[in-house]
Amino acid sequence: MAQASVLVRQSFDALSHLPDVSSDPVSEQLARRTLEFAQLRVGEQVLDVATGVGLVLVPAARAVYPGGSVQGLDISQGMVEQARRNVAAAGLTNASVAVGDVEAASFPAGRFDVVTASAALPYMADAAAALARWRGWLRAPSGRLVLNCFTSPYDPECGLFYRLAAKHGLAHMFADPLAQCGSREGLTQMLRRAGFKGLQAFREEFLREAERSAAERLRDGSVHNSVGVLYGVAHAV
Ligand SMILES: C[S@@+](CC[C@H](N)C(=O)[O-])C[C@H]1O[C@@H](n2cnc3c(N)ncnc32)[C@H](O)[C@@H]1O
Repeated sequence: MAQASVLVRQSFDALSHLPDVSSDPVSEQLARRTLEFAQLRVGEQVLDVATGVGLVLVPAARAVYPGGSVQGLDISQGMVEQARRNVAAAGLTNASVAVGDVEAASFPAGRFDVVTASAALPYMADAAAALARWRGWLRAPSGRLVLNCFTSPYDPECGLFYRLAAKHGLAHMFADPLAQCGSREGLTQMLRRAGFKGLQAFREEFLREAERSAAERLRDGSVHNSVGVLYGVAHAV
């Protein structure tokens, strides 16, 4: 496994032990909107890449029941264990989760009606190759990919950091993971290059205040600010 993937796995393994890992308001909002864009139908076969604790997987399994099922894949054992607990707690029989690197996974061509990827693309070491693989797993022409990605830069400090790193010749170590997918044009271009058609990219504002507890906000007197989120829907024609 590449060094970057090992670091991603280790950091999400560590996060998976936090008591509130299944109720992160940022991830919940991204997952909810992703599902709204996905418009899942009863009977559909869904692959949820980089499943995390199952915030997309669990409601998706309810939406496609009966007849449909959802398969989740995540590189972090800790996240997968948490997702399995959430699947069991929801009493679902049509959802399963496996540990695995989605960049190395293989599924038969045309196996799924829908691939969902919420807060997943920026973690891919080779996002362009990952998109092309996901397209191959989708049934044509009806298969669709539904994903989201924050806009770049995530905040001004991040933007400054990546610019300084580039200026000092450190772009290879500290490259903005949102550089390409974090704009409507960039995301659309990536999806087109991966062979998708019928592309739609929607930009929404996302209140970052949701990331902070009310107590934190009161303490530092922070004002509301927001970051953009792009939702992409693409067809595997
Ligand atoms: C920000 S979380 C999003 C989780 C989930 N999709 C959600 O919306 O709640 C990113 C997840 O991607 C997983 N991940 C990162 N790289 C991965 C890879 N190459 N293969 C599978 N999972 C990966 C991490 O372990 C983590 O659970």
